[in-house]
Amino acid sequence: MSAAVRRDYRVLPASRVSGRVRVPGDKSISHRSLMLGSIASGRTEVSGFLASADCLATLDAMRAMGVAITRHDETRLTVEGAGTRGLRQPAGVIDLGNSGTAIRLFMGLLAGRRINVTLTGDESLQRRPMERVAKPLRLMGADLVTTNGCPPLTVRRVEVLRAIDYAMPMASAQVKSAILLAALQAEGETCVLEPAPTRDHTERMLRGFGVEVLTEGPRVRLAGGQRLQGMNIEVPGDISSAAFFLVAGCLAGADGFVVENVGVNPTRTGILDILKLMGADLRLHPRASAGDEPVADIELRQSALRGIAIPEELVPLAIDEFPVLFIAAAAAQGTTVLTGAEELRVKESDRLAVMSEGLTAMGVVNELTPDGIRIEGGRRLTGGRITSHGDHRIAMAFTVASLISDGPIQVQDVANVDTSFPGFVEVARQAGLAIEAV
Ligand code: S3P
Repeated sequence: MSAAVRRDYRVLPASRVSGRVRVPGDKSISHRSLMLGSIASGRTEVSGFLASADCLATLDAMRAMGVAITRHDETRLTVEGAGTRGLRQPAGVIDLGNSGTAIRLFMGLLAGRRINVTLTGDESLQRRPMERVAKPLRLMGADLVTTNGCPPLTVRRVEVLRAIDYAMPMASAQVKSAILLAALQAEGETCVLEPAPTRDHTERMLRGFGVEVLTEGPRVRLAGGQRLQGMNIEVPGDISSAAFFLVAGCLAGADGFVVENVGVNPTRTGILDILKLMGADLRLHPRASAGDEPVADIELRQSALRGIAIPEELVPLAIDEFPVLFIAAAAAQGTTVLTGAEELRVKESDRLAVMSEGLTAMGVVNELTPDGIRIEGGRRLTGGRITSHGDHRIAMAFTVASLISDGPIQVQDVANVDTSFPGFVEVARQAGLAIEAV
């Protein structure tokens, strides 16, 4: 990984974003297109693929397990499905870099597949909790060994898995998806119960591949032994990457500022609900959907935001968007209070602590709590020097702060932006941010 290369962003204050911008493909959907395409029979054609470091780690991993994948250009590729029994023993350890989604979904995908695979990642990934996935998979009969609950971890060869009925202790699409992927290999019908709705891309895409997945309220059921048939997948723009420009539009959008082609699956649109509650003037213009995933252009205008208590049920539906939502909170009149968000402490960084540190450095009064933060908004920021602690979404969030800052902002350690948003600087400059990578 290039994570060792520490680059910075230098961002000067700016006061307008305008025009129409487009963000790269959805990270969650891109990972899943490779994983499901690889275990399907027949060919899967993917367009709009996110060629970021995280998704390319999944691509390399699939190739290491013998799957033929042809890249036609940056965003189009073909996966020659290896079928249910087609994954081969990789020659060495598989390094998934910074990607929690890749490692956790692979745990489920590889369980019960008669190969031994060791998975690892970068410094950040080696600190992230894996037992939340290993535990339910062990109940299914999988043989998984973690290192004190973290990577490196090994998925050992097992002949059969059995179905389980599992009530998840936390709202996590990664845990749900890993169980569903393992359930494909299990005897009997697996049932997963979610404590709150989380993104459902796995369920939608499995249905596209011809698998029967039943969703009844908070329960998802899947019978083992079903085969996947290759399909065409169009990946919409990632709302988690659009998020930086959605907030930028609320802070400084000129008339007609639009973020185009954004995936608006209702299990991902918590950010839109939160911004609307804060008073954002935003409008959705629906486009033709990408398969089973709804897509829209989102038009935003500069709005007088106000602080709110963020409803807890929206937290899992906006889980990756909080770093930049905290910038919106700093701009808003009054206090914003987030609770029920302890999951943010185990993302690529401790996003509560790291954002609090950065906001404080720029003069924003805030108070950390074990499961959230209080942010006093409504004053201009001072600018200053921020470290992202290697977290891509923290790095990008603080560039948006340049729209409410009186001084320049230096964001340190931004190389990991490539894990989710290659080309961020160009899109941000096109929108109107005065940003350069140094
Ligand atoms: C993801 C699920 C979320 C999210 C991550 C991607 C996915 O994680 O934070 O960026 O693709 O399933 P959790 O399910 O652990 O909350």
